[in-house]
Amino acid sequence: MAQKKIILTGDRPTGPLHLGHYVGSLINRVKLQDQYKQYVILADVQALTDNYDNPQKVHDNVLQVALDYLAVGIDPQKSTIFIQSMIPQIAELTIFYLNLVTVSRLSRNPTVKTEIAHKGYGESVTAGFLMYPVSQAADITIVKPNLVPVGEDQLPMVEQTNEIVRHFNRLYKKEVFPEVESLIPKMARLVGTDGKTKMSKSHGNAIYLCDDADTVTKKVMGMYTDPNHLKVSDPGAVEDNPVFIYLDAFDPDTAKVQELKDHYARGGLGDVVIKKYLAQVLNTFLEPIRTRRSEFAKDPHMVMDIILKGTEIVQGVAERTMCDVKEAMGIIYT
Ligand code: TRP
Repeated sequence: MAQKKIILTGDRPTGPLHLGHYVGSLINRVKLQDQYKQYVILADVQALTDNYDNPQKVHDNVLQVALDYLAVGIDPQKSTIFIQSMIPQIAELTIFYLNLVTVSRLSRNPTVKTEIAHKGYGESVTAGFLMYPVSQAADITIVKPNLVPVGEDQLPMVEQTNEIVRHFNRLYKKEVFPEVESLIPKMARLVGTDGKTKMSKSHGNAIYLCDDADTVTKKVMGMYTDPNHLKVSDPGAVEDNPVFIYLDAFDPDTAKVQELKDHYARGGLGDVVIKKYLAQVLNTFLEPIRTRRSEFAKDPHMVMDIILKGTEIVQGVAERTMCDVKEAMGIIYT
């Protein structure tokens, strides 16, 4: 039998997950776990690179993100969820990888560049933050996966991982790691409720999977639409209108969405009406997720047990990978 392909994916536990995470990667993980062997990393060490002053926040969000995973249907029978900081081999592998990457290459990583600008770090960016893509390459390769299903913003990380993999294999003359393929969902990024940038916690424009129905409705009613759509009778723009982008993503009734789009474009359909409809669509979508989440939340010990069991499995895998690494490098001492 051909070996099942291996997947590695994950998130920084800095807050609960939102709709952007859902369309960007959670949706793929739920589907892929049936066909592949899937590892999901709770990347707390990476989260610390910009939250080192608040480890409590990172600690507490490990459980929150795990709850989101279980709530959307990531099944611990099929997927192995684990905690990054409990796999010291990832830190060890990072140190070896750091020799294979230049500082200038790291400062050119587009995702890191954007984050540094957004956070206003400038020259005072820490070494830990600048090198987190290398640590992510270690997260990824520690289980020797073939596939990395991620949102679009993570593509530079996968590219950098493959550069490291190629460099490592060539240098130490052994195919220790396979190159990885990224897998981007059809809607790779979701705009935030402000219609300006992608949905993210730091932009304050997110709808969370754990938001209650009233919160979702309130956020939707405050959403950005077409700024030129002043009167109900005015024709409105459907394109780049976050309300319609969300309807495309979350309303299974595509015929109805098309009808609303046509009506809005013609004029005569008010923002309040489409927003109320969207709120209803989102709440219908989120309701079963919320219910499952609150069920799991009643038993946090069971949830921790699930991720600690997953972590134990990865500890074994990581130990074997590091044996291969050290053997290829010729640094085994007996
Ligand atoms: N960098 C990812 C994010 O910010 C989280 C992450 C850490 C990750 N390690 C990973 C994603 C490995 C995929 C694979 O969301």
